[in-house]
Amino acid sequence: MELDQLRQQALAELNAVEDEAGLRSWNSHYLGKSGALTQALKRVGQLPPEERPGYGQQVNALKEALLAAYERKKQQLHEQEIARSLAAQALDVTLPGRPVLRGRLHPATQVMRDILAIFAELGFQVYRSREVEDDLTNFELLNMPPHHPARDLWDTFHTTTPGILLRTHTSPGQIHVMRQYCPRPIRVVLPGMCYRYEQITARSEIQFQQVEGLAIGESISLADLIGTLQTFAQRFFGGQRRLRIRNSYFPFTEPSVEVDVDCILCQAGSAADTRAAEPSGPSSPCTLCKGTGWLEILGAGMVHPVVLRNGGYDPDRFQGFAFGMGPQRMAMLKYAIHDIRLFWGNDLRFLEQF
Ligand code: PHE
Repeated sequence: MELDQLRQQALAELNAVEDEAGLRSWNSHYLGKSGALTQALKRVGQLPPEERPGYGQQVNALKEALLAAYERKKQQLHEQEIARSLAAQALDVTLPGRPVLRGRLHPATQVMRDILAIFAELGFQVYRSREVEDDLTNFELLNMPPHHPARDLWDTFHTTTPGILLRTHTSPGQIHVMRQYCPRPIRVVLPGMCYRYEQITARSEIQFQQVEGLAIGESISLADLIGTLQTFAQRFFGGQRRLRIRNSYFPFTEPSVEVDVDCILCQAGSAADTRAAEPSGPSSPCTLCKGTGWLEILGAGMVHPVVLRNGGYDPDRFQGFAFGMGPQRMAMLKYAIHDIRLFWGNDLRFLEQF
């Protein structure tokens, strides 16, 4: 009778418990060392011997029952707690996940790949050459002895090791390729970073890419150079492009030329040739070609006999053409980018447009 009462009271109180602190004190009150059940068990000794086993069993059964009820309550409080914190933190697991930003290739890389792909179709293999060069290969073997005034065309980063510098153009790669492949014919493009100690402006950077082209064989002429570049310009810029070849000077080519393509924006270059000068109007000169109708795209020429010989080729048997273009410049023309500094400025507003 006494135990029944204890059971009812314990369960009623457990039912009313609202938090973990309440649960803990209920537990010590009923199931603890000096709790009600322990007290009840102690009373065994006051009973007549024949009643003791029955009573003991009842107390133990009650203990089991209360323990089970306690565990259930504990679990229930735990679940309530989770539900409460979920509600408080307002975590909505049904919301769609945050989109993962997809990366993309840098515009310089994209343009570089476009250029290399076009030359690959024309049979040019990619040859990678070093960025840290020696004076010998960057200048001397390209027909520029020390103190040659043509060296002034290239402002150079010298390292603290005498004679070691950052290449100012990809042309020293010509020497490396020739020495590796001589006396076989060559058709390669040499892409890569170049460095010049220059003031950084909208049109010049201290670091920029170039793509060099080199073809060596026994019957290569200026016509091959022009045909190759004509095809390239057409594929890179699209449409029926026209080239303009102007003579120029590079120590490592003879003759040397500079190559322009007709303006892809205003077409004034082709118009100027077919019709009498009919300018687009002084009020609106084309922003890309400044009204000239032509865009300068690269320097080129027939490989100088001295350079051929430095590469191991007999200039009486072999000829070659070479060209060097700046992919950043090509990209600026193709996409009307006004400032070369944007390429290495890491501004996402620029980069995400490509
Ligand atoms: N190396 C030259 C430059 O950087 C470009 C060039 C390459 C010219 C090959 C002719 C032949 O200006």
